[in-house]
Amino acid sequence: MNVKTPKVFAVGVGPGLYEYITKNVQDIILDADIIIGYEFTLNTINRLLKNKNVYMITMTNQERIYNKIKKEIGNKKLVVPFTGDVNFSESEVVDRLIQIFGNITIVPGISSIQVAAAKAQIALDKTKIITFHISTSIENKKIELRKGLIDGFNIIVLPRPWPSQPKKQFMHSELAFYLKNNGFDTSKINVIVYESLTTNSEKIFVGKVNELENKKFSDLSIIVIKQSKLESYYNILDANIM
Ligand SMILES: C[S@@+](CC[C@H](N)C(=O)[O-])C[C@H]1O[C@@H](n2cnc3c(N)ncnc32)[C@H](O)[C@@H]1O
Repeated sequence: MNVKTPKVFAVGVGPGLYEYITKNVQDIILDADIIIGYEFTLNTINRLLKNKNVYMITMTNQERIYNKIKKEIGNKKLVVPFTGDVNFSESEVVDRLIQIFGNITIVPGISSIQVAAAKAQIALDKTKIITFHISTSIENKKIELRKGLIDGFNIIVLPRPWPSQPKKQFMHSELAFYLKNNGFDTSKINVIVYESLTTNSEKIFVGKVNELENKKFSDLSIIVIKQSKLESYYNILDANIM
Protein backbone atom coordinates (compact mmCIF):
# COMPACT_ATOMS: atom_id res chain seq x y z
CA MET A 1 0.00 0.00 0.00
CA ASN A 2 1.35 3.38 -0.97
CA VAL A 3 0.53 5.62 2.02
CA LYS A 4 1.46 9.22 1.33
CA THR A 5 2.82 11.24 4.24
CA PRO A 6 1.75 14.85 4.69
CA LYS A 7 4.08 17.36 3.14
CA VAL A 8 4.68 20.49 5.17
CA PHE A 9 6.70 23.42 3.85
CA ALA A 10 7.84 26.55 5.68
CA VAL A 11 8.80 29.06 3.00
CA GLY A 12 10.14 32.61 2.87
CA VAL A 13 8.13 34.87 0.56
CA GLY A 14 10.25 38.02 0.64
CA PRO A 15 9.64 41.43 2.22
CA GLY A 16 6.36 42.35 0.52
CA LEU A 17 6.76 42.92 -3.22
CA TYR A 18 5.44 40.01 -5.28
CA GLU A 19 8.52 40.03 -7.52
CA TYR A 20 10.71 39.18 -4.52
CA ILE A 21 9.08 35.76 -4.16
CA THR A 22 11.46 33.25 -5.72
CA LYS A 23 10.13 31.09 -8.56
CA ASN A 24 10.85 28.03 -6.45
CA VAL A 25 8.61 29.28 -3.62
CA GLN A 26 5.89 30.37 -6.10
CA ASP A 27 5.79 26.81 -7.47
CA ILE A 28 5.60 25.28 -3.99
CA ILE A 29 2.69 27.56 -3.07
CA LEU A 30 0.85 26.90 -6.35
CA ASP A 31 1.08 23.18 -5.66
CA ALA A 32 -0.26 23.46 -2.07
CA ASP A 33 -3.68 22.43 -0.76
CA ILE A 34 -3.59 24.33 2.54
CA ILE A 35 -1.94 27.64 3.42
CA ILE A 36 -1.60 29.01 6.95
CA GLY A 37 -0.15 32.49 7.39
CA TYR A 38 -0.28 35.94 8.93
CA GLU A 39 -2.19 38.71 7.15
CA PHE A 40 0.79 40.65 5.74
CA THR A 41 2.39 37.47 4.42
CA LEU A 42 -0.85 36.23 2.86
CA ASN A 43 -1.28 39.60 1.13
CA THR A 44 2.18 39.21 -0.40
CA ILE A 45 1.23 35.87 -1.97
CA ASN A 46 -2.41 36.77 -2.61
CA ARG A 47 -2.35 36.07 -6.35
CA LEU A 48 -1.15 32.49 -5.73
CA LEU A 49 -4.00 31.56 -3.37
CA LYS A 50 -6.81 30.72 -5.81
CA ASN A 51 -8.55 27.39 -4.93
CA LYS A 52 -6.49 26.92 -1.76
CA ASN A 53 -7.79 26.29 1.72
CA VAL A 54 -6.40 29.44 3.39
CA TYR A 55 -6.20 30.13 7.14
CA MET A 56 -5.28 33.64 8.24
CA ILE A 57 -3.76 33.35 11.69
CA THR A 58 -2.71 35.65 14.52
CA MET A 59 -0.33 35.09 17.43
CA THR A 60 -3.30 34.14 19.60
CA ASN A 61 -5.04 31.54 17.41
CA GLN A 62 -2.08 29.98 15.55
CA GLU A 63 -1.56 27.10 18.00
CA ARG A 64 -5.20 26.01 17.63
CA ILE A 65 -5.07 26.17 13.82
CA TYR A 66 -1.78 24.25 13.50
CA ASN A 67 -3.17 21.47 15.71
CA LYS A 68 -6.50 21.37 13.84
CA ILE A 69 -4.67 21.00 10.51
CA LYS A 70 -2.31 18.39 11.96
CA LYS A 71 -5.39 16.21 12.71
CA GLU A 72 -7.03 16.78 9.32
CA ILE A 73 -4.11 16.98 6.91
CA GLY A 74 -4.09 13.39 5.56
CA ASN A 75 -1.81 13.40 2.53
CA LYS A 76 -2.43 17.02 1.63
CA LYS A 77 0.28 19.57 1.11
CA LEU A 78 0.53 22.39 3.67
CA VAL A 79 2.56 25.55 3.12
CA VAL A 80 3.26 28.03 5.91
CA PRO A 81 4.62 31.23 4.36
CA PHE A 82 6.85 33.63 6.31
CA THR A 83 7.73 37.21 5.46
CA GLY A 84 11.28 37.67 4.20
CA ASP A 85 13.49 34.68 4.85
CA VAL A 86 12.05 31.84 6.90
CA ASN A 87 15.45 31.30 8.58
CA PHE A 88 15.73 34.79 9.97
CA SER A 89 13.83 35.90 13.08
CA GLU A 90 11.07 33.31 12.67
CA SER A 91 12.42 30.44 14.75
CA GLU A 92 9.85 30.70 17.55
CA VAL A 93 7.16 29.67 15.04
CA VAL A 94 9.27 27.44 12.76
CA ASP A 95 10.46 25.42 15.78
CA ARG A 96 6.83 24.95 16.83
CA LEU A 97 5.97 23.66 13.34
CA ILE A 98 8.79 21.11 13.66
CA GLN A 99 7.47 20.08 17.08
CA ILE A 100 3.94 19.62 15.72
CA PHE A 101 4.53 18.22 12.21
CA GLY A 102 7.94 16.58 12.57
CA ASN A 103 9.80 16.52 9.29
CA ILE A 104 9.14 19.81 7.48
CA THR A 105 10.88 21.27 4.44
CA ILE A 106 12.31 24.76 4.90
CA VAL A 107 12.76 26.90 1.79
CA PRO A 108 14.61 30.23 1.98
CA GLY A 109 13.39 33.59 0.75
CA ILE A 110 14.81 37.07 0.40
CA SER A 111 14.99 38.76 3.77
CA SER A 112 14.04 42.34 4.57
CA ILE A 113 17.54 42.69 6.04
CA GLN A 114 19.06 41.85 2.64
CA VAL A 115 16.96 44.58 1.05
CA ALA A 116 17.95 47.06 3.81
CA ALA A 117 21.65 46.14 3.41
CA ALA A 118 21.41 46.64 -0.35
CA LYS A 119 19.78 50.05 0.05
CA ALA A 120 22.32 51.17 2.66
CA GLN A 121 25.15 49.68 0.56
CA ILE A 122 26.67 47.67 3.38
CA ALA A 123 28.17 44.19 3.32
CA LEU A 124 26.40 41.70 5.58
CA ASP A 125 29.76 40.21 6.60
CA LYS A 126 30.74 43.58 8.09
CA THR A 127 27.44 43.91 9.92
CA LYS A 128 26.02 42.73 13.23
CA ILE A 129 22.45 41.71 12.56
CA ILE A 130 20.37 41.77 15.71
CA THR A 131 16.71 40.89 15.98
CA PHE A 132 14.87 42.10 19.05
CA HIS A 133 11.72 40.64 17.51
CA ILE A 134 11.60 37.75 19.97
CA SER A 135 9.52 37.07 23.04
CA THR A 136 12.35 35.87 25.33
CA SER A 137 14.86 38.14 27.10
CA ILE A 138 16.68 40.71 24.95
CA GLU A 139 19.26 41.80 27.54
CA ASN A 140 22.16 39.92 25.89
CA LYS A 141 21.17 41.34 22.51
CA LYS A 142 21.40 44.87 23.89
CA ILE A 143 24.97 44.10 24.97
CA GLU A 144 25.68 42.68 21.48
CA LEU A 145 24.43 45.98 20.05
CA ARG A 146 26.80 48.04 22.21
CA LYS A 147 29.72 45.74 21.46
CA GLY A 148 29.03 45.78 17.71
CA LEU A 149 29.02 49.58 17.70
CA ILE A 150 32.27 49.80 19.68
CA ASP A 151 33.93 47.22 17.41
CA GLY A 152 33.11 49.32 14.33
CA PHE A 153 30.57 46.99 12.71
CA ASN A 154 27.58 48.18 10.78
CA ILE A 155 24.41 47.38 12.69
CA ILE A 156 21.07 46.14 11.40
CA VAL A 157 18.36 45.98 14.05
CA LEU A 158 14.86 44.63 13.93
CA PRO A 159 13.07 46.45 16.75
CA ARG A 160 10.61 44.83 19.13
CA PRO A 161 7.01 46.01 18.94
CA TRP A 162 4.86 44.93 21.88
CA PRO A 163 1.82 47.22 22.01
CA SER A 164 0.01 45.22 24.71
CA GLN A 165 3.01 45.43 27.06
CA PRO A 166 4.76 48.75 26.33
CA LYS A 167 7.46 48.03 28.95
CA LYS A 168 8.66 45.14 26.79
CA GLN A 169 8.93 47.26 23.65
CA PHE A 170 12.35 47.99 22.22
CA MET A 171 11.52 50.27 19.35
CA HIS A 172 13.53 53.11 17.81
CA SER A 173 13.05 55.48 20.74
CA GLU A 174 13.98 52.88 23.37
CA LEU A 175 17.10 52.00 21.37
CA ALA A 176 18.15 55.68 21.19
CA PHE A 177 17.70 56.19 24.94
CA TYR A 178 19.42 52.89 25.71
CA LEU A 179 22.55 53.88 23.76
CA LYS A 180 22.59 57.38 25.26
CA ASN A 181 22.20 56.02 28.79
CA ASN A 182 25.12 53.69 28.13
CA GLY A 183 27.54 56.44 27.26
CA PHE A 184 27.23 56.71 23.46
CA ASP A 185 27.13 60.20 21.94
CA THR A 186 23.99 59.50 19.96
CA SER A 187 24.04 62.95 18.37
CA LYS A 188 27.04 61.76 16.34
CA ILE A 189 25.82 58.32 15.23
CA ASN A 190 24.21 58.24 11.77
CA VAL A 191 21.10 56.13 11.41
CA ILE A 192 18.73 55.09 8.64
CA VAL A 193 15.25 53.69 9.27
CA TYR A 194 13.57 51.77 6.48
CA GLU A 195 9.80 51.32 6.79
CA SER A 196 7.64 48.98 4.71
CA LEU A 197 10.47 48.05 2.36
CA THR A 198 9.51 47.08 -1.21
CA THR A 199 5.85 48.04 -0.66
CA ASN A 200 3.89 51.07 -1.91
CA SER A 201 4.24 52.69 1.52
CA GLU A 202 8.02 52.40 1.70
CA LYS A 203 9.58 55.29 3.72
CA ILE A 204 13.13 56.21 4.66
CA PHE A 205 14.33 58.32 7.60
CA VAL A 206 17.94 59.51 7.61
CA GLY A 207 19.35 61.27 10.66
CA LYS A 208 21.22 60.83 13.94
CA VAL A 209 20.33 58.28 16.59
CA ASN A 210 19.28 60.96 19.12
CA GLU A 211 16.56 62.06 16.66
CA LEU A 212 14.84 58.70 17.21
CA GLU A 213 14.01 59.66 20.81
CA ASN A 214 10.20 59.77 21.26
CA LYS A 215 9.73 59.32 17.52
CA LYS A 216 7.27 56.69 16.33
CA PHE A 217 7.85 54.38 13.37
CA SER A 218 5.81 51.48 12.08
CA ASP A 219 6.39 47.95 13.36
CA LEU A 220 7.44 47.02 9.85
CA SER A 221 10.77 48.76 10.03
CA ILE A 222 14.49 48.20 10.18
CA ILE A 223 17.20 50.34 11.79
CA VAL A 224 20.59 50.58 10.08
CA ILE A 225 23.75 52.14 11.50
CA LYS A 226 26.45 52.29 8.86
CA GLN A 227 30.01 52.48 10.16
CA SER A 228 32.09 50.72 7.49
CA LYS A 229 34.20 52.66 5.01
CA LEU A 230 34.81 51.70 1.37
CA GLU A 231 37.56 49.07 1.42
CA SER A 232 37.97 47.57 -2.04
CA TYR A 233 40.68 45.25 -3.35
CA TYR A 234 42.29 48.42 -4.73
CA ASN A 235 42.95 49.66 -1.19
CA ILE A 236 44.06 46.28 0.07
CA LEU A 237 46.45 44.98 -2.63
CA ASP A 238 49.91 46.37 -3.15
CA ALA A 239 49.47 49.00 -5.87
CA ASN A 240 52.64 47.66 -7.61
CA ILE A 241 51.00 44.39 -8.59
CA MET A 242 48.02 46.05 -10.22
C1 LIG B 1 9.30 38.41 12.78
S1 LIG B 1 10.40 39.45 11.93
C2 LIG B 1 10.52 38.61 10.42
C3 LIG B 1 11.73 38.91 9.58
C4 LIG B 1 11.68 38.20 8.25
N1 LIG B 1 11.76 36.78 8.42
C5 LIG B 1 12.72 38.67 7.26
O1 LIG B 1 13.60 37.87 6.89
O2 LIG B 1 12.64 39.81 6.82
C6 LIG B 1 9.36 40.78 11.50
C7 LIG B 1 10.14 42.08 11.36
O3 LIG B 1 10.91 42.07 10.17
C8 LIG B 1 11.05 43.40 9.69
N2 LIG B 1 10.48 43.47 8.35
C9 LIG B 1 9.91 42.46 7.65
N3 LIG B 1 9.51 42.89 6.44
C10 LIG B 1 9.83 44.20 6.37
C11 LIG B 1 9.65 45.21 5.38
N4 LIG B 1 9.07 44.96 4.21
N5 LIG B 1 10.10 46.45 5.65
C12 LIG B 1 10.70 46.74 6.82
N6 LIG B 1 10.87 45.83 7.81
C13 LIG B 1 10.45 44.57 7.58
C14 LIG B 1 10.30 44.31 10.67
O4 LIG B 1 11.22 44.74 11.66
C15 LIG B 1 9.29 43.34 11.25
O5 LIG B 1 8.77 43.75 12.49
